[in-house]
Amino acid sequence: MRTPYIAGNWKMHKTASEAEALARDLVRSLDREAKKVMIAPAFTALGAVKRCLEGSHILLGAQNMGPEEQGAHTGEVSVLMLKDLGVEVVILGHSERRHKYGEGDELINQKVKLAVSHGLDVVLCVGETLEQRDSGTTTGIVEEQLRRGLNGLGALAQVTIAYEPVWAIGTGKTATAKDADDTHRFIRELLARLYNQKEAEEMIIQYGGSVKPNNAAELMAMENIDGLLVGGASLTADSFVPIVRYDAGS
Ligand code: 13P
Repeated sequence: MRTPYIAGNWKMHKTASEAEALARDLVRSLDREAKKVMIAPAFTALGAVKRCLEGSHILLGAQNMGPEEQGAHTGEVSVLMLKDLGVEVVILGHSERRHKYGEGDELINQKVKLAVSHGLDVVLCVGETLEQRDSGTTTGIVEEQLRRGLNGLGALAQVTIAYEPVWAIGTGKTATAKDADDTHRFIRELLARLYNQKEAEEMIIQYGGSVKPNNAAELMAMENIDGLLVGGASLTADSFVPIVRYDAGS
């Protein structure tokens, strides 16, 4: 049985005080939910949000991480710094990191292994561009991102996969639930080949890309969609809370 896992990626939004206010609202509304919930504010708000989450079961995530423990990496934030702030999960390989900042699979893989070795959970994002989808290479792209991103990682216990088709992010276009489920099934089958059947069956595979309160239930009803990685609609309690409660008829 896979526990539904709903995550909010706040991207480059919210000052520390704004983030704190939203985190307080979410704790009030969501603390009795049986699902796994994670929020990922900007680095500058992690400390303030962590204080709001004390005693709550909502997990604290970061949106990225540097590839080394420490050193001359101007502008980067290390795994040790994240751990020190109480971060439990890190999102890696997000398409905005890949496409706007040129992060490749090798760098992402280095970060994945570093995070896992320090006991952080990882949400590894994969997904194809519109061009790749139109040329029929979706599964090939996703397979390559997963093979390379997970290269050398012995076990999947600390990993969640997020399938985020690039063309669906922030555009209002969602993959149909059926299309998303097909890709999720492909990912699960690939993980069974790369690891084993048991780990693949236990793997949480989130969908991300224009998730809203009105499509969360349909997506989550699919056999291979186990969670959601939400961008824009995670920025207010009014839209994020009903997404987390997608099965409550709200
Ligand atoms: P939107 O929900 O705004 O499309 O963003 C999705 C995303 O990139 C989450 O990581």
